[in-house]
Amino acid sequence: MLAITDIHKSFGQNEVLKGVDLKIDKGDVVVILGPSGSGKTTLLRCINFLEKADHGHATFNHMEVDLNTASKKQIHEVRQKTAFVFQNYNLFNNKTVLENVTEGLIIGRNVPKGEAIEIGKKALNKVGLSEKYDAYPSALSGGQQQRVGIARAIALNPDIILFDEPTSALDPELVGEVLQVMRNIANEGTTMLVVTHEISFAQEVANRVVFMDGGVVVEEGTPKEIFVTPKEERTKKFLKRVLPNEYTFSI
Ligand SMILES: Nc1ncnc2c1ncn2[C@@H]1O[C@H](COP(=O)(O)OP(=O)(O)OP(=O)(O)O)[C@@H](O)[C@H]1O
Ligand SMILES: [Mg+2]
Repeated sequence: MLAITDIHKSFGQNEVLKGVDLKIDKGDVVVILGPSGSGKTTLLRCINFLEKADHGHATFNHMEVDLNTASKKQIHEVRQKTAFVFQNYNLFNNKTVLENVTEGLIIGRNVPKGEAIEIGKKALNKVGLSEKYDAYPSALSGGQQQRVGIARAIALNPDIILFDEPTSALDPELVGEVLQVMRNIANEGTTMLVVTHEISFAQEVANRVVFMDGGVVVEEGTPKEIFVTPKEERTKKFLKRVLPNEYTFSI
């Protein structure tokens, strides 16, 4: 469904992505783990052209694009196939919840307003916000705001949803409701690429885990392969820091 090859990206002298490959099949839930600064956000942003890669290719279904030289039309097509859920929700504070969800449909996709409202309500119902269509983001909890962010992504009916640490800005007691929504949409077969530190989510929901460090993919595999029998020293070292104590693996 999505294949990324050899992405490179530098910011000035700082080479952040040093040749990353990634393959995602339809229905996959792929979790990317890695220490701060390893390039996880930059990778997601390059896939969606929020950032322009210095080099790299992506194949979306059968459409091939050069991540450095893609035309406006190609960028538009890729954006039609992808949706992004941001760490800090990125909602419009002067628009209602429903307007936040329908905006991309009406403006970005030329969906007639009435139809967009129907789609938007359905998406909001799915994330448990049927009571909040007319609320403004400032009247919502962080967990609710992030669920609006997810509804906005679902409403676009993308081929893949990219999540960048969707729960890391939330108070601990609000993390669960967002992960539950993500679990639900994963169970419906949504293709998802998720940067997260939520190990239990990765364990339960991901079918593949990718460990990145220093701008490269160090190791990838099933959750069991990565969490129980990691091969690379760097992976083991990272997991020792983040895994709850009950997990053990051979060193
Ligand atoms: N717009 C930018 N301009 C300059 N440097 C940047 C920019 N975005 C990211 N960087 C740098 O790129 C490196 C990787 O950043 P990135 O945000 O991709 O890491 P990350 O793995 O997502 O980290 P975190 O877990 O903290 O979110 C960092 O050194 C960061 O300072
Ligand atoms: Mg990041």
